[in-house]
Amino acid sequence: MLFLAMTCMSTDVAASLSLKVGFYNQSCPSAEEMVKSVVNKAIIGNPGLGAGLIRMHFHDCFVRGCDASILLDSTPGSQTEKENPINKPSLRGYEVIDEAKAELEAQCPQTVSCADILAFAARDSAYLLGGIKYAVQSGRRDG
Ligand SMILES: *[C@@H]1O[C@H](CO)[C@@H](O)[C@H](O)[C@H]1NC(C)=O
Repeated sequence: MLFLAMTCMSTDVAASLSLKVGFYNQSCPSAEEMVKSVVNKAIIGNPGLGAGLIRMHFHDCFVRGCDASILLDSTPGSQTEKENPINKPSLRGYEVIDEAKAELEAQCPQTVSCADILAFAARDSAYLLGGIKYAVQSGRRDG
């Protein structure tokens, strides 16, 4: 656990050089609102999805930082994190991320990274279910 915490912290320090709160203010002003509305709708239908989205963001952040690698499907001979027994079948909420990504692509094509969508979705879940509020720096690039 300590190892994981340190791995995540060192990644955050390196990434903070380019991450900003409101990274999409100009390029896709409604990005965070759009994710929040998709997440809220999903959680109202199934509150357990909130915990799933927080866990998905956490698992995405290792190995090699928060890069949306958790969303990749396996190819023959190359098993991804998503298909690993650590995550499958217990990780859930993929359909929420897919829906948010589809809405964002319609509004602001090729602008908002999936890694940022995961980070926003975890934040929105924590707020909706636990009243925990925090600003999310964004500008992550997908691996
Ligand atoms: C985006 O807007 C928010 C709210 O006005 C502000 O707090 C944030 O600093 C802005 N970020 C950037 C990168 O412009």
